[in-house]
Amino acid sequence: TVWKLTSDLRVAEKGMGKCQCFPALLQMLKCPCPPSSAGLELSVNNHAADFTLSTGLSPAISLSCLVHNSSQAEELLWYRGTGQVDLKDGNKVNISNICISPVNESDNGVTFTCRLARDKAVQVSVTLDVQFPPQLSGEETLHVEEEKDVTLTCNSKANPQAQSIWLKDNQILTLQQSRHKLYQTSEVFQLSITKVEKSDNGTYTCVVESGLGNGTRDFHLFVEDKKPVFPTEAIIAAAVVVTITILFGIVAQKDKIFKVWKALVS
Ligand SMILES: *[C@@H]1O[C@H](CO)[C@@H](O)[C@H](O)[C@H]1NC(C)=O
Ligand SMILES: *[C@@H]1O[C@H](CO)[C@@H](O)[C@H](O)[C@H]1NC(C)=O
Ligand SMILES: *[C@@H]1O[C@H](CO)[C@@H](O)[C@H](O)[C@H]1NC(C)=O
Ligand SMILES: *[C@@H]1O[C@H](CO)[C@@H](O)[C@H](O)[C@H]1NC(C)=O
Repeated sequence: TVWKLTSDLRVAEKGMGKCQCFPALLQMLKCPCPPSSAGLELSVNNHAADFTLSTGLSPAISLSCLVHNSSQAEELLWYRGTGQVDLKDGNKVNISNICISPVNESDNGVTFTCRLARDKAVQVSVTLDVQFPPQLSGEETLHVEEEKDVTLTCNSKANPQAQSIWLKDNQILTLQQSRHKLYQTSEVFQLSITKVEKSDNGTYTCVVESGLGNGTRDFHLFVEDKKPVFPTEAIIAAAVVVTITILFGIVAQKDKIFKVWKALVS
């Protein structure tokens, strides 16, 4: 152990940062520091410092953590993100291997860390960079009334991030600024059309492309005739007018009607 004298306290060197002993106490007590972890080093897959591991979708990858320069048996811990990984006995001392199987999209960006159990500051992390092409397929059918709005949505994750283009009936869609809107995040690609016209009818294709490949999805858009709005108010107004006209008619001709009625009864 290397000791450094500072103004009023002694601070242990690297790896013992949490262990501080005051000089006055030091005379009476033995410093209650555990055996030093200074000089101890870990390596993961032969990397002594944090690193990024690039991989495709694969059935399995293994990570091997080793302790170097130990003078005693050292227990190792593994973490996936902040959660501790359960290790079997016999896979904890001096060397510890974990296996990620299978490696899929949800492992992208996840960090695995190997730590020394008695000094968690001694650690090496590996961040997974799982590369995969856009995963997108299928088709859907949409019926929309003329003059209504419609949004076509493609959900597709990819690493590296993908770009999208939209086709209409297999031709690149010419965007009309006033009616077409594109929306794009790392996982969602959308095309919105406002006030759909008859000429918008057709098959739209979302093509999502990255350096690793592409995926497509078709949208069959059927633009239907505007449904006539049932003119309830106009009909009520007309009915009222007709009823009033008939009533006035009856009132105006009441003598005549009365006479006819009398004639019929007698
Ligand atoms: C082991 O310790 C020695 C001396 O403390 C140091 O020079 C060497 O770099 C260490 N080796 C590793 C692999 O940590
Ligand atoms: C771990 O390493 C230490 C120091 O090299 C050694 O004394 C101990 O026997 C090892 N333990 C196991 C289980 O390998
Ligand atoms: C990835 O694999 C894990 C199990 O290893 C599974 O729970 C998860 O659903 C999978 N994710 C995807 C996106 O396939
Ligand atoms: C509207 O588009 C659909 C989907 O592409 C197509 O099947 C249908 O024939 C089109 N209708 C008209 C009137 O163009």
